[in-house]
Amino acid sequence: VESSYTYENYKETADWLLAKIKEKQKPKIAIICGSGLGGLADLLQNQTVLRYKDIPHFRESTVHGHAGHLVFGELNGKSCVCMKGRCHFYEGRSCSEVTYPVRVFSLLGVETLIVTNAAGGLNPKFNVGDIMLIKDHINFLGLAGQSPLRGPNEERFGVRFPCMSDAYDQDLLRLAQQTAEKQNCSSFLQQGVYCMVGGPTYETVAEAMLLHTLGADAVGMSTVPEVVVARHCRLRVLGLSLITNKVVSEYDCADRANHEEVLATTEMRAGELQRLVSNLVSQI
Ligand code: 6GU
Repeated sequence: VESSYTYENYKETADWLLAKIKEKQKPKIAIICGSGLGGLADLLQNQTVLRYKDIPHFRESTVHGHAGHLVFGELNGKSCVCMKGRCHFYEGRSCSEVTYPVRVFSLLGVETLIVTNAAGGLNPKFNVGDIMLIKDHINFLGLAGQSPLRGPNEERFGVRFPCMSDAYDQDLLRLAQQTAEKQNCSSFLQQGVYCMVGGPTYETVAEAMLLHTLGADAVGMSTVPEVVVARHCRLRVLGLSLITNKVVSEYDCADRANHEEVLATTEMRAGELQRLVSNLVSQI
């Protein structure tokens, strides 16, 4: 069975966290920082920083570019909680381990989840460094039976059969689009479908062609399980992918995907993405 956690586990973590923060730090917005995007957490003011290894039931990430800190504080005047680093399915974690923090956030009173990630571009119109607002996803793991919601349903979080046709909040999408226009980054802003694969291998050429044929604009190894759990407990979701590289979709191309390139691109555009999220948050 997928979930090895009880409602009491989530509650224990939430109460542990509430004892560490001040009443006015109680967040309404949670932000998950993807590979190389942890700088967003550093923008929070009046921080309370907690290490994952000290938080009951939290898992650490083993990946370079992912610190293991939970940061509470104000971003542009709004109380937020930021995950600086996340753990992934490919690290050997179960979907329920990967999504554990999301249910805790919901118990803390969070209403909006903002997820960011680094992704490979499949859409030929996308350039390296583009920011893609996620309008929908393809859940390869879920379609194949790997869902964080597999097992007995916890009614206190949500229904047995949650709807996913409205996974990404239309109002937040519009707000993100408008905010990007105001800060002059429309030239590298895209909207598209994010496809999650298990990893840790990057795609073969045939797989890249398959995913694009299926309607995916970007591919990555994270985010979707967290979104599924967030929607189950009715959090509003906004997702942003930083396109860190183009997925190789033809045989006579010498480019090779690698994690160093991914991190180098995030370094180049992290500031812009942080500015976008920060400006957005002030309007939520
Ligand atoms: Cl090319 N593929 C996958 N699966 N994840 C990525 C990526 C590519 N680039 C960044 N993350």
